[in-house]
Amino acid sequence: MARVIAVANQKGGVGKTTTTVNLSAVLAQKGQKVLLVDMDPQGNATSGTGITLEDLSLYDALTGDARIEDCIQKSQWGELYVAGSDADLAGAEAELMGRENREYCLKNVLAAVRDSYDVILIDCPPSLGLLTLNALTAADSVLIPIQCEYYALEGVSALMDTLSRIRRSLNTQLVVEGILLTMLDGRTNLGLQVADQVKKHFKTLVYKSTIPRNVRLSEAPSHGEPIHIYDPKSAGALAYLQLGDEVLSRLDIRPVERIVVTAEDTKSGREDKGKKNKKTKKNKKKNAKSND
Ligand SMILES: Nc1ncnc2c1ncn2[C@@H]1O[C@H](COP(=O)(O)OP(=O)(O)OP(=O)(O)O)[C@@H](O)[C@H]1O
Ligand SMILES: [Mg+2]
Repeated sequence: MARVIAVANQKGGVGKTTTTVNLSAVLAQKGQKVLLVDMDPQGNATSGTGITLEDLSLYDALTGDARIEDCIQKSQWGELYVAGSDADLAGAEAELMGRENREYCLKNVLAAVRDSYDVILIDCPPSLGLLTLNALTAADSVLIPIQCEYYALEGVSALMDTLSRIRRSLNTQLVVEGILLTMLDGRTNLGLQVADQVKKHFKTLVYKSTIPRNVRLSEAPSHGEPIHIYDPKSAGALAYLQLGDEVLSRLDIRPVERIVVTAEDTKSGREDKGKKNKKTKKNKKKNAKSND
């Protein structure tokens, strides 16, 4: 059964989506079968993995209009699958509000596919609203990216309070998977000081791998490619590959040899990319079936 990890921090722009996309892709590269669930109406994790949404999205599964299996698309990056979203998801928040057990919608939806994956990563929006509550209720654990800047810890205590509240009611098993330092600029004292402060505060919860500020990481999403494909030698790629190893070792999952997609494999097939992105409805249904 998949380990379900929510990537959350209500502070905006701290690297949640960058981490969800690239960690999902490197875990798939390391042989895991991964489902990325885009719980943000911004839909950046969907486009960042090169997925073009067709008629069904996570919204349809959450509102009960479609089976989750029919809302999942296979990416080009090995065994990485995506339950994608767009602005429609903002409407789901309002629609779910009036329902009984409204915080459990995602958990109930994912129950149908949990056995089909090794890891499920959920990209959360920058708020502690109903979509994030659904993610934290569905998750086994939460991975918290913290940007290495002056106000880094501001808001983290609010998140920790929310986690405690959720543990008391909606999800008693929820744990912190790890805290990830992002956008670290090792050349500035400030970045290093903040990193030290976070480590002092959260001790062993903090991943040894840190994500440097790296312009290649901000370029990759516009190509719909994870960083280890877009620029495998970049500092960003090396950092996320290292994080992938650390996450697997914390989960006590040994890397398995399944399908490994290398940069070379995909660069050669790049000309077909536009075509592959626009999968037909028929293909999508086929993929969804193979996930059953
Ligand atoms: N390590 C990095 N180095 C350079 N740029 C980065 C890095 N990580 C993320 N970025 C860029 O910073 C911006 C914010 O990152 P991202 O979208 O991952 O944050 P987020 O927490 O998901 O934001 P939101 O709260 O809006 O969902 C994006 O433009 C992204 O490309
Ligand atoms: Mg985001």
